[in-house]
Amino acid sequence: MMLDSVRGLLTPSGRSDVPPFMVMDVMAHAARIEAAGGRVIHMEVGQPAAPAPQTARAAARAALDVGDVGYTEALGIPALRARIAQHYTDAYGVTVPFERIVATTGSSAGFILAFLALFEPGDRVAIANPGYPPYRHILTALGCEPVMIDISADTGWALTPDALLAAHRRTPLKGVLVASPANPTGTMMRPDALKALIVAAEGAGIRFISDEIYHGLDYAFPAATAAQFSDNVTIINSFSKYFCMTGWRVGWMVMPDALVRPVERLQQNLSISVPTLSQIAAAAAFDGRDEMDGVKHGYEENRKILVAGLPQAGIDTFLPVDGAFYLYADVSRFTDDSFAFAHQMLDEAGVAATSGIDFDPVRGKHFIRFSYARSADDMREAVERIGRWLQR
Ligand SMILES: Cc1ncc(COP(=O)(O)O)c(C=O)c1O
Repeated sequence: MMLDSVRGLLTPSGRSDVPPFMVMDVMAHAARIEAAGGRVIHMEVGQPAAPAPQTARAAARAALDVGDVGYTEALGIPALRARIAQHYTDAYGVTVPFERIVATTGSSAGFILAFLALFEPGDRVAIANPGYPPYRHILTALGCEPVMIDISADTGWALTPDALLAAHRRTPLKGVLVASPANPTGTMMRPDALKALIVAAEGAGIRFISDEIYHGLDYAFPAATAAQFSDNVTIINSFSKYFCMTGWRVGWMVMPDALVRPVERLQQNLSISVPTLSQIAAAAAFDGRDEMDGVKHGYEENRKILVAGLPQAGIDTFLPVDGAFYLYADVSRFTDDSFAFAHQMLDEAGVAATSGIDFDPVRGKHFIRFSYARSADDMREAVERIGRWLQR
């Protein structure tokens, strides 16, 4: 029998009680099938199959040979910050001073730094529903309150100024976070819609965070950066997706001037600095854009295969497939339980996808998310397997 005093030592904090990421369960199940000799087409994981650009790997290798891998400045190595500033000029024609750029350990660490620098415990922060689950889980762990605002076809699958201001009138918001292209929807906001939302938020005193991690993977139209519309927004980005560097754990933020020093102090204390080899590799990744554009063309091909093939296979209702590498499909014709549906599709068709309930606890039971970050052959085979399975 455990003594009460010992039990007290072992009780986890309330704030650590965040839900697991259910896609991990699908991955584990797929791994079991593969271990037993089965073949699985992986469309559950939101990560590129391709490696980091050659330029990045060569730079990391060279730095490793020299061996001088110490801490860096908390805000990041100057060469990386300067290269990111240059990227804003090259990609969007906008000037972002190098001083406002902060290297982070993936965008995941960017969220923690940004939320700590921007919000107090108890602050309410609006996010789109469906959305990337860690937004709400990180906010909750930090004592903030995520306010999920439903998006739908009626609102162009994005937060609108009307919806944001209506939520703000009900109970005041301190912040809002949007992503375009978005996960899990794969939808994008038109530049004028992004601008209107920023103007509305700032007009109401709501701090604006733009998660631009899927920039570079835009197919419907070129993505706009929030930096084009305001110097007071926080932008979070990463080398994980376009640059195929998930495991390197490196990203960046663009902060409003006044918040750079607070973020620097936080980073000094929380992690000292971002992994050095990853920063060196990331700076060189910008020279590998041709290679990465080749990977992006592969995704475009995959997107075409799915957009044409899934309706023939029987899945004919999905959101606009604008960007990132996600297709969010409505499977309400087949099920009221997309979690069970995804499991069955994995067991019987050998295609792994993610249930929408990870992203939208209520309406997600009618949706599944396909990731199309792998090969065109995989996409063709997936369409064929799903077709045979649904017509069984
Ligand atoms: C919308 C979105 N933001 C952020 C992340 C976190 O990525 P990372 O920490 O690798 O930069 C992901 C990962 O899937 C994502 O989908």
